[in-house]
Amino acid sequence: MNYRHAFHAGNHADVLKHLALVHLIESFKRKDKGFLFVDTHAGRGHYPFDPSTPGGEWHEGIGRVLAAAAAAPSKVPPALQRYLALVLAAGGGDGTALTAYPGSPRIAGELLRPQDRAVFCELQRVEAKALSIEITGWPRAQVREADGYATVKSLLPPSERRALVLIDPAYETQAAEFDQVRATVLDALARFPSCTLAVWYPVKESSTAQRFLDAMRASGIRRQWVVELCIHPDDSRVGLNGSGLWVVNPPWQFGAGLAPALPWLHRVLSPAGRGRWRCAEWVGE
Ligand SMILES: C[S@@+](CC[C@H](N)C(=O)[O-])C[C@H]1O[C@@H](n2cnc3c(N)ncnc32)[C@H](O)[C@@H]1O
Repeated sequence: MNYRHAFHAGNHADVLKHLALVHLIESFKRKDKGFLFVDTHAGRGHYPFDPSTPGGEWHEGIGRVLAAAAAAPSKVPPALQRYLALVLAAGGGDGTALTAYPGSPRIAGELLRPQDRAVFCELQRVEAKALSIEITGWPRAQVREADGYATVKSLLPPSERRALVLIDPAYETQAAEFDQVRATVLDALARFPSCTLAVWYPVKESSTAQRFLDAMRASGIRRQWVVELCIHPDDSRVGLNGSGLWVVNPPWQFGAGLAPALPWLHRVLSPAGRGRWRCAEWVGE
């Protein structure tokens, strides 16, 4: 396993994923009752940028978003504001440059309440150790240096009877990882049918992601949504053309809350107007 998320932190895919995560968690918080948040592929939680290496995918991701927001604050859709505030709080430095970007555990940790619980799974020892330090002092959060797919099985159904699961693999083995994701989703829903699961996936030249979506549609599972943001045409060979989140059992008004952010984000992240976005029900009630 060679994947290091630090190289990608803050890119366009992180922007979409973390924006959606903020909306999911905020929607869960509409009810007082606590819930379990599981991050099956958590990473280290916080990614400082090295000023001596000026490259970095974040420049064309969150860097563009923050520049556009600073240039015309009144044009930023309200649906983005909570996410942007969290990013600035984690790495805004003196306000002139971004010094770090928060990972999904850090974003969740900022939003969860005392009655909520979090389990972060991370297989790489170095990353898991860094995350353990990152979450020191978070009373109801724990890191498991373990396989996220196996761990989520052991956590469902949760004692809270409410759960939000983020599945965010690196897809180093494209088709095989999609198969593992699909099997995990089916298993999780068999254990806990009302579980909300959000699966991040890359949109690349091959149609692997579309095959995954088609399989989920054919699965008989109800209440599925798809959110995608692509900054290159689907068949472009640049590598990562875009990304998406497949969500099952979304909280009430999840799509309606998120959709207004997407046309603005697409304009900012793809100034030449390439690619596309969508936020749509995939399978109904
Ligand atoms: C895309 S990164 C996660 C990014 C993170 N969710 C975020 O949004 O900040 C994927 C992470 O999963 C870890 N990983 C890979 N396979 C895993 C597995 N089977 N179980 C748990 N973690 C895994 C990798 O070490 C890597 O840190």
